[in-house]
Amino acid sequence: MSKIIAPSILAADFANLQRDVEMVNNSQAEWFHIDIMDGVFVPNISFGMPVLKAIKQHATKFIDVHLMIVDPDRYTKTFADLGADMLTVHYEACTHLHRSIQNIKSFGMKAGVALNPHTPIHLLEDIIQDLDMVCLMSVNPGFGGQHFIENTYTKINALKNLIEKKNASTIIEIDGGVNDKNAQKLVEHGADVLVAGSFVFKSEDPTQTISELNQIVNQ
Ligand code: DX5
Ligand code: ZN
Repeated sequence: MSKIIAPSILAADFANLQRDVEMVNNSQAEWFHIDIMDGVFVPNISFGMPVLKAIKQHATKFIDVHLMIVDPDRYTKTFADLGADMLTVHYEACTHLHRSIQNIKSFGMKAGVALNPHTPIHLLEDIIQDLDMVCLMSVNPGFGGQHFIENTYTKINALKNLIEKKNASTIIEIDGGVNDKNAQKLVEHGADVLVAGSFVFKSEDPTQTISELNQIVNQ
């Protein structure tokens, strides 16, 4: 499988959302990464359903929705109806994670689980075979533009070992502080999907930045 670049729309220019969505459509990125924050699970509020609906009207690629909200089960059907292809919930926000995952799949979406930087990999031991993706947070969720946490490499190793031990086909996504300095090392350790927000959208030529990242990870 080729490695995937997933630009995070959180860092886009919301006054020019259609332009930025079309930029991603016409770039070498394969996915859109959509960050939904509720101001409770994380200390920030991003955007919700009407904005995702607007994005979806123009987006032509895979929609990867990252829910940073408490009690995400309440909205599983809503995100399926809005056109999410992957729905990722936080381990720390789900008391009945197995049920949440089955619920996501029952609506025809792929199911992911995100881990905060302090949450150990071994907690996924009894659910990994049910997961299409694990998203390792390489910053504390809530904001774009933060510094990459170096311990992420060790966590990718541990996750890769768990996936192999359990014979699972789960893919690994890295979210937060991704740039041209750490991208290669991340895929060498086993990352499959790299989310990049600020590094892409705050650059002078986002299309070119995506192309450079793509080249680094797929060389
Ligand atoms: C953080 C979000 C990330 C964020 C990444 O809570 O989950 O997806 O948009 O942004 P950068 O790439 O700027 O760290
Ligand atoms: Zn995210």
